[in-house]
Amino acid sequence: MTQANQAVLDFLQTRRSRPAKLLRAPAPDKDSLLPLLVAAGRTPDHGKLEPWRFIVLWPAALKRIAGAIEAHGQAIGKSEEDIAKARTQFDDSPLCVAVIEVQKPSEKIPAIEQTYSAGAVCLALLNAALASGWGANWLTGWVAHDTVFCRDALGLSGDERIAGFIHIGTATAIPPERPRPDIGAITTWVDT
Ligand SMILES: Cc1cc2nc3c(=O)[nH]c(=O)nc-3n(C[C@H](O)[C@H](O)[C@H](O)COP(=O)(O)O)c2cc1C
Repeated sequence: MTQANQAVLDFLQTRRSRPAKLLRAPAPDKDSLLPLLVAAGRTPDHGKLEPWRFIVLWPAALKRIAGAIEAHGQAIGKSEEDIAKARTQFDDSPLCVAVIEVQKPSEKIPAIEQTYSAGAVCLALLNAALASGWGANWLTGWVAHDTVFCRDALGLSGDERIAGFIHIGTATAIPPERPRPDIGAITTWVDT
């Protein structure tokens, strides 16, 4: 057995997100963000398909996305409340990385495995940001599942969809801990 990395284990056993509404500037600049993207890209990926990519949304883009949510939400008849909730995550965000699932044609690798890998990229980016001392939060919301919005506002193709919006910045407060799973209740130990 190789030597344990106790610092990493301690982090993984205590890590928690910081709610997006508590994130403010400063956020990582390009030089600080790149190593986080490198860490996120180091994610299990069956068949080496790399079924994901990143869109980094800086403040001007966040403002544009928030405006596009307002316009699109009204056009498709979303309630004021749904529109306000969806745009708040971009209005208030100091930086957001959209993790895009990119389905690659493959006879061997099922689509669902590419989806799992994209989800794993989201967690890897979230954890890399948290481990670096940033506050970070993985959000989606209705806009993430609206294919017309994703095409028009983010340039996604028909093979692409949002795996997550990872908001990264400086946490202004530490949220209370949330309930965590009872591992005993969800684990079956099989020895026969
Ligand atoms: C795919 C996915 C989408 C999510 N979307 C939202 C969302 O839109 N709004 C929200 O309040 N929380 C959302 N969450 C939950 C937040 O990320 C929440 O902060 C998270 O469960 C905190 O967990 P942690 O402290 O273990 O990191 C989502 C989680 C996942 C995995």
